[in-house]
Amino acid sequence: MVAISDAVFRKFARLLHERAGIHLSEQKKMMLATRLNKRLQHFGLRSFNQYFTLLNDPAHPDEMQVMIDHLTTNETYFFREPAHFDFLESLLRRERREQWRIWCAASSSGEEVYSLAMVLDDVVGTGHWFVLGSDISTRMLAQARRGVYPEEDNATIPQRLLKKYCLKGVGAQAGSFAIDRRLKQGIEFRQINLTALLPPLGQFDLIFIRNVMIYFNQPTKHEVVKRVLGQLKPGGYIITSHSETLHGITSELAMVKPSIYQKQRRDGGAA
Ligand SMILES: C[S@@+](CC[C@H](N)C(=O)[O-])C[C@H]1O[C@@H](n2cnc3c(N)ncnc32)[C@H](O)[C@@H]1O
Repeated sequence: MVAISDAVFRKFARLLHERAGIHLSEQKKMMLATRLNKRLQHFGLRSFNQYFTLLNDPAHPDEMQVMIDHLTTNETYFFREPAHFDFLESLLRRERREQWRIWCAASSSGEEVYSLAMVLDDVVGTGHWFVLGSDISTRMLAQARRGVYPEEDNATIPQRLLKKYCLKGVGAQAGSFAIDRRLKQGIEFRQINLTALLPPLGQFDLIFIRNVMIYFNQPTKHEVVKRVLGQLKPGGYIITSHSETLHGITSELAMVKPSIYQKQRRDGGAA
């Protein structure tokens, strides 16, 4: 394995921060070296400096995205932090909308988006909801669009929803399951970098932005929250993971419970 010096590690860390907002502390040096060694091997390079040069070489326009894909942490699973899905279900039962619009702003390989879609479709019915799933990683977005997962990954999906929305693979697909096409019709996956200017997206009733801000430093986190809040309807909800907090970031949000925040309505009230 090719080793990386502290100075070259810092060059990569700076580049990743510029391109994806991700903050890598010195402790992540080994992680970066291990993950990027495969790329050095792929190009037959002998040093990280050579790879850094290649990243900026117009002859390899796609390599920057490949590097970002290798350095993002994509862990996710169906119905992760189930209290958030219970919250969504009770909100859907309590309030009426012609169409619910939800943005899942770091959707990784899609499990979170499909979990949201199962709850939405089950409670409000097809045609009355839309979910936008977005991520910076094109590799994860490709997996998400495919919507096929190993069978053991279905363990956290409630049995009733599993039966209703997932198809067990047979023949060459044995050992996997696929998300029903009916659900996919209400979903769009797009590449969106949360640390760059957002494309026009419209307004959302809820925004799930879970387990991504832990990779940002405080100024980046502030900037991302401000940007994302611009896409949330007054009275709408923003949901982070239980290990993240938006406390003190903006007075526009009121905490409903830990990790669930509501945007103030124009008259100043949250509820
Ligand atoms: C740990 S996963 C979280 C997945 C899911 N939200 C969950 O809670 O299970 C973090 C995701 O954030 C994405 N990510 C990292 N930086 C990003 C950025 N600047 N813009 C958009 N997505 C980003 C990564 O590609 C990764 O898929």
